[in-house]
Amino acid sequence: MALPAAFLDELRARTPLSALIGRRVRLARSGRNWKGNCPFHQENTPSFYVYDDHFHCFGCGAHGDAVGFVMQTQGLDFREAVDLLAREAGLDVPRPSAEAAAAERRRHDLGGVLAAAAAAFQRRLFLPEGGRALSYLRGRGLSEETIRRFGLGYAPGRGALTAELGREGIEPALLVEAGLLRQDEEGARPFELFFERVMFPIHDRRGAVISFGGRMLGDGQPKYLNGPETALFAKRRTLYGLDLARAAARAGAPVIVAEGYMDVIALHQGGFAGAVAPLGTALTAEQMEELWRLSPEPVLCFDADAAGRAASIRAADVALPMLAPERTLRIAILPEGQDPDALIREQGSAAFQQVLDAAPPLADALYGLLRAAAPLASPEQRAAFRARLEAVAVRIEDRGLAREYRQALLDRFFSESRRPRARSEWHKAPGGQPSAFGPRPVRAGAGRASPTPEEGASERLRLLAAILLHHPALIGGIEEQWQQIDLPPWLAPLREAVLAWAESRGREGRALDSAGLIAHLHEVGLGAVGKRVLASSPFPLPVFALPDAVSAEAEAGWWHIFGLLHHDRLDAEIEAAQRDFAEQPDERTQRRLLALAEARERLRQGETDDDGA
Ligand code: UTP
Ligand code: MN
Repeated sequence: MALPAAFLDELRARTPLSALIGRRVRLARSGRNWKGNCPFHQENTPSFYVYDDHFHCFGCGAHGDAVGFVMQTQGLDFREAVDLLAREAGLDVPRPSAEAAAAERRRHDLGGVLAAAAAAFQRRLFLPEGGRALSYLRGRGLSEETIRRFGLGYAPGRGALTAELGREGIEPALLVEAGLLRQDEEGARPFELFFERVMFPIHDRRGAVISFGGRMLGDGQPKYLNGPETALFAKRRTLYGLDLARAAARAGAPVIVAEGYMDVIALHQGGFAGAVAPLGTALTAEQMEELWRLSPEPVLCFDADAAGRAASIRAADVALPMLAPERTLRIAILPEGQDPDALIREQGSAAFQQVLDAAPPLADALYGLLRAAAPLASPEQRAAFRARLEAVAVRIEDRGLAREYRQALLDRFFSESRRPRARSEWHKAPGGQPSAFGPRPVRAGAGRASPTPEEGASERLRLLAAILLHHPALIGGIEEQWQQIDLPPWLAPLREAVLAWAESRGREGRALDSAGLIAHLHEVGLGAVGKRVLASSPFPLPVFALPDAVSAEAEAGWWHIFGLLHHDRLDAEIEAAQRDFAEQPDERTQRRLLALAEARERLRQGETDDDGA
């Protein structure tokens, strides 16, 4: 006899899962959650994760809640496991009431009614009356096998279903409860919700029919009708296609979330059997949880239109608080105007596979989606956008991950909001030469328009020093390369002093800070030289040479200028950095490689921009 849902919720809430499982499995923290070696299969590296309310093994697919864990590890049946946990939690197991028993029987009956309706719809699809619906489905490229696998059907004219099921002894009242008939007023005759529509049965995760969606044949409104909420069907907890996707995901298929019925079906037919869709509503937290039970990284693939992009942002927003290192999302970007159904039909599965492979990680996709909706022309707009990015990161409850997101989003914002300026004002001099000096004055007459080549060269040398005065932490990584550059007599002594200062600070184990360095220059009589290096004339310093630049930006900027001075040496540095990173892939070698790659990218962009000029 079924137990009341409220009791089971209480039991689960009172049974901390990590403690229960921790008695049998050695668990280690993993973000907000726990992981360990799976007790259900042999493994040496942990792929068994314990969340607040369930466990999941990404190795063998073992999965369940507290009750399930006790059942599976102790060989008990459901009732025995509940009794055991209830004793431990100090709860009394309620005796089934007559009322609860009746509710359970009704749900049972409803399941039977829906199954009978699905069979009736399906049968009629292949009768003459269903001919138009069948040819509609075939016209949309569905094979007979697909039509059968999804149990698609046809709802005939009003009255037919009630009559047919009535002959099987199913009362109209039950059809109302099942969401198939609607009763608008007390006493009035209930009428069929679905008629003359193509019918898509909606299944629960175990494959039982719990409701239907119905599509019009041809154009008209509403295009799709979904069944109402019933005792069996809760939209916010249901995903279309989940019953089939679960098996596919266990077999390794990527889990894909599309927008609609036809997308899911086309994806399955195209070989992507891990596809599901919400039912015309935004993705809910419950649905996200369901997806994460199947895959640590489901891929959203909504229509490439404004509505689809908004739905992606909303879904990501729902997911943010729940993100953890092993619970994330990707967002696939379809060609504009496409949905998965159209893409597969027009260009085949390989085209969709490409879209899937190219799906960026969530932080990148989210940045792109938010950015697409945010103009950055004015300081106010930039500030608002930056605040939006910060707000996104703050919503992530996993602290470490929130920090990473904040960094990643802001890095992209900074490099984007600086690069256009770099390109138009700093990077590109009229005459086609990439020229790294301060931004050209924007307004005519406000100052010098562009430097001569000689001024350009000496300006670059000044900038290399300026970046280091503002970001002395970079000195250790560029010392050798800076040494090799010929400096004019006024600048060479400053380099000596800076390097000597960095070395002695390093020996003392002290931090390299900008204020300390500038004070030191004053002490050794180079204060005026330092001032000249940091002056905003003859050309203002570019943003990446200013004190508030992000360190990664400053570093990339340094290498960019270095590359402008010595193109070939930059290439050699990149090769060396790649070797270092391959041998010792730590944060330091990675940062260096990224900075160098960024510098080379900017050099290339400068060149292509100028080629066109
Ligand atoms: P779409 O209109 O994108 O669905 O709506 P689709 O599957 O691409 O449609 P066709 O058949 O190819 O033209 C996406 C989802 O939104 C819900 C349905 O769940 C649909 O699958 N929807 C859409 C409704 O509930 N009612 C509607 O009128 C339209
Ligand atoms: Mn669509």
